[in-house]
Amino acid sequence: MALLLLIAAATAPGLAAGSSSSVINATCAELSSTQPLDFCLGVLSADQAAAEATDVRAVAAAAVNITAQKANSTLRAIAYLTHDLSGCRGYYSKMTRSLADGLADFRAGRFRDASDEIVVNATNVPLDCSISLFEGNAAKDPIDQENNDNQSLVQLAADIVDLFVKKRLGGDQRVTRVRGN
Ligand SMILES: *[C@@H]1O[C@H](CO)[C@@H](O)[C@H](O)[C@H]1NC(C)=O
Ligand SMILES: *[C@@H]1O[C@H](CO)[C@@H](O)[C@H](O)[C@H]1NC(C)=O
Ligand SMILES: *[C@@H]1O[C@H](CO)[C@@H](O)[C@H](O)[C@H]1NC(C)=O
Ligand SMILES: *[C@@H]1O[C@H](CO)[C@@H](O)[C@H](O)[C@H]1NC(C)=O
Ligand SMILES: *[C@@H]1O[C@H](CO)[C@@H](O)[C@H](O)[C@H]1NC(C)=O
Repeated sequence: MALLLLIAAATAPGLAAGSSSSVINATCAELSSTQPLDFCLGVLSADQAAAEATDVRAVAAAAVNITAQKANSTLRAIAYLTHDLSGCRGYYSKMTRSLADGLADFRAGRFRDASDEIVVNATNVPLDCSISLFEGNAAKDPIDQENNDNQSLVQLAADIVDLFVKKRLGGDQRVTRVRGN
């Protein structure tokens, strides 16, 4: 009995498409005009209930159950993402406020304040958002591209403002003059 269980455990999960049961083969053959054969065989053979099914009715029930399980894990992923993205919404709100404050400081000639505000409260926000998503339960960042682009952009803005703090292009010097040099 124990040996039988061991054999079942060892063989069931590893079924490849090439070793599909005849019921699965027949089911997938019937669907060949609408379902790619590899996909059909692969999905069904990988599922224990489907692999052990002895009639099409059991294969169909297994197919619905597989789908329910997968939809459920997508639902969980969406819940995790919703939670983590709402954290990002907080980060980015703070970032936009800091950039507005930084811009006001910059326009008023308070370059150091502008730079501090941007560096301390804005430069790492896109990165922090992205990291929180990758470290979260969903382990992925659906706005990865936006985070990367915005991270590059805020670094650029911070570095340009920093030129004024270091007085490399700031004060009386005009950018056009530098370009003409
Ligand atoms: C199912 O089809 C595959 C080829 O697609 C074949 O290798 C396999 O023996 C078939 N299984 C049964 C039980 O007929
Ligand atoms: C559906 O699949 C899950 C996971 O494979 C399994 O635990 C459960 O018993 C299945 N439910 C039915 C009704 O077959
Ligand atoms: C989906 O997952 C929840 C737990 O996250 C569980 O309570 C529920 O039974 C699952 N539904 C299905 C169809 O597996
Ligand atoms: C960063 O933002 C906080 C408010 O969230 C503010 O108190 C602080 O002064 C800001 N830091 C700098 C350097 O402006
Ligand atoms: C920043 O993110 C916004 C949307 O979140 C996107 O439209 C924009 O292209 C991103 N990158 C840059 C460089 O603005």
